[in-house]
Amino acid sequence: MSLYNDVEKVLVSEEQIQQRIKELAGEMNAIYSDDNPPLLVCILKGAYMFLSDLTRHLTFRHELDFMEISSYGHSTKSSGIVRILLDLAASIENRHVVIVEDIVDTGNTLDYIIRNMSTRNPASLRVATLLNKPSRRILEVPVDFVGFEVPDEFVIGYGLDFAEQYRNLPFIGVLKAEVYQNWDQ
Ligand code: PRP
Repeated sequence: MSLYNDVEKVLVSEEQIQQRIKELAGEMNAIYSDDNPPLLVCILKGAYMFLSDLTRHLTFRHELDFMEISSYGHSTKSSGIVRILLDLAASIENRHVVIVEDIVDTGNTLDYIIRNMSTRNPASLRVATLLNKPSRRILEVPVDFVGFEVPDEFVIGYGLDFAEQYRNLPFIGVLKAEVYQNWDQ
């Protein structure tokens, strides 16, 4: 299977991801209830798998919404230019909101989302991210629920892509350099 041949190594296994997501859901179940339910906002496309597994462990009633943001295009490096490709369907005014991300890297995307959503006057705003890459941070951003801190490697799988591929891998892997090294030239 060529998809799997492109993986240098597995960084976070499927079992580790599923176990950690149960723990994150537990943290959220301790904060939210049916009396203060949040709207979970999935940042597409990368967070679709994380949201899907996270939401089935939540015990409070909640709604979902989706926002599609793009900052990378097909490049391996962030362009720093953030665009909204799909906006929320619902109003978040006076509602508790949890932003669900797959990875916080430079912080450009999350900083933009937080500033944008803050203008819509939510009751509260928290952030859940499966992966955090603090070594790459350019903008300081608040993150409330973190799955795993990862080193500065090209990570793919479990929603994360390279050129729109590899999102379906059930684990977080490191992409072989030979796959992407000539891409930006
Ligand atoms: C990725 C990821 C985050 C963002 C993080 O999105 O899903 O939203 O980059 O990088 P940053 O902290 O440097 O801004 P991408 O633009 O690749 O879109 P995708 O989720 O549709 O793959």
